[in-house]
Amino acid sequence: MALTDFDLVLFGGSGDLAMRKLLPAMYARDVANDLPPTSRIICVGRQDCCQEDFLKTVEATSRPHIKAPAVTPAAWAKFTARIVYVSLNATDAGSYAPLVEALRGDPALTRVYYLATPPHLFAQICDNLAANELVTPNSRVVLEKPLGRDLASAKQINAEVGKVFAESQIYRIDHYLGKETVQNLLALRFGNILFEPLWRREWISDVQITIAEKLGVGNRMGYYDTSGALRDMLQNHLLQLLCIVAMEPPTSIAPDAVRDAKLQVLRSLKKFTPTTLAQNIVRGQYRAGHVDGQAVPSYRDEPDAPEHSRTETFVAMKAEIDTWRWAGVPFYLRTGKRMADSLAEIVVRFKQIPHSIFNQPTSSFQPNSLVIRLQPDEGLRMNLMAKTPGDGMRLKPAELELDFRESFKSPRMDAYERLLLDVLRGQLTLFMRGDELEAAWEWVEPILTNWEQDDSMPIPYTAGTWGPAAASALIGRDGLQWREEALPED
Ligand code: BG6
Repeated sequence: MALTDFDLVLFGGSGDLAMRKLLPAMYARDVANDLPPTSRIICVGRQDCCQEDFLKTVEATSRPHIKAPAVTPAAWAKFTARIVYVSLNATDAGSYAPLVEALRGDPALTRVYYLATPPHLFAQICDNLAANELVTPNSRVVLEKPLGRDLASAKQINAEVGKVFAESQIYRIDHYLGKETVQNLLALRFGNILFEPLWRREWISDVQITIAEKLGVGNRMGYYDTSGALRDMLQNHLLQLLCIVAMEPPTSIAPDAVRDAKLQVLRSLKKFTPTTLAQNIVRGQYRAGHVDGQAVPSYRDEPDAPEHSRTETFVAMKAEIDTWRWAGVPFYLRTGKRMADSLAEIVVRFKQIPHSIFNQPTSSFQPNSLVIRLQPDEGLRMNLMAKTPGDGMRLKPAELELDFRESFKSPRMDAYERLLLDVLRGQLTLFMRGDELEAAWEWVEPILTNWEQDDSMPIPYTAGTWGPAAASALIGRDGLQWREEALPED
């Protein structure tokens, strides 16, 4: 669907996200000729800076983040001609005149206000937009995470933003939903007849969802130390993946059909009590170690880290979903910084065969599993048992593999490219609804409260490993292993 003309306003327009992700994403779509010729990107910043200097900053800071296609001078000139820099104080309604002037008045134009700012500014920016009569019926607002830090703050954001924008105008971003393989998971589940009959407790023994990063916290310590892995990754990205794996078939791909189905999963997650929480959740913090052969410091020795920080950089948990489909099936979730590898994957493990007709015991059959790989390489792998060639009848594990890059040569889009296009098109399916956001916070709230009251430390783990041994013990108690632990040694 072709885009209609728009003004995209980036609050936090000179910030890290705009420079690293948003402007490069818009550049890529411009080069692909997706953007109407007159559409503009209005970058709002506090700094009093002229247009020319701002474009120099974009050139120095944002352009290096553009991957493919290579930047040509002509394409760059065309792209930067769309950019307008506006300086104002987002918290002062009286300072919005330059924005009023920069926006085109035509009410038919799509206006998108992208708030790439700390969440405490959301309400005030929305109020100030309203006070300056900048919210037209064709306006949309995009909210970047963190969307609050607990249930109360998430509710407050929803309420305050909701005074100015209708729910159908609010786009809450979780960039994981923009990833190609996440959408492919929808295609796999609901575009094939094979999986749905098996996608339930009778046939699936457990599900593992891992997002591991080799990266540390970089220059984001100010934010990260007040957040931690539970708020930064689990409450949003991991729970969204869990929802897409576990949801009932939505009636269509329409926004509310998908969001209703995800909401049902979030509301069915078994609540933790102080006892079950201690048994089923492991939190860790990295200590000095080696990642890719390079020595890296302990979390507490990173620049600006509080000396006695108790912030978790790793979390692993066993979650359960109380529904007919999933009762008794453990969902193991895990995420961490400074881990042995950078990967994001979902592993769906099926049950063991009931009986062996071959001259080898049932226990020698590796249960089937489906590995859905989000990154670094995108693909699906189905583990099966197959006969080894030659005489006799000996079965061994074998793999059926679908590499998305190999199978589909069409150009890829970064998650932000896809999501920005969806906002500009008015397509809400890949964005969280307000009640979903609140349900996710409601579920993690007892964990946050418990950790705040408990003065014990996260368990230390060495940087460059798969996290504390307690995480292996957590899954080991159920007679299972994390996927990399179960792989044969190279
Ligand atoms: C962000 C987190 O939402 O996701 C970061 O704030 C994390 O801490 C990032 O590094 C991971 O995203 P991706 O797409 O690189 O896996």
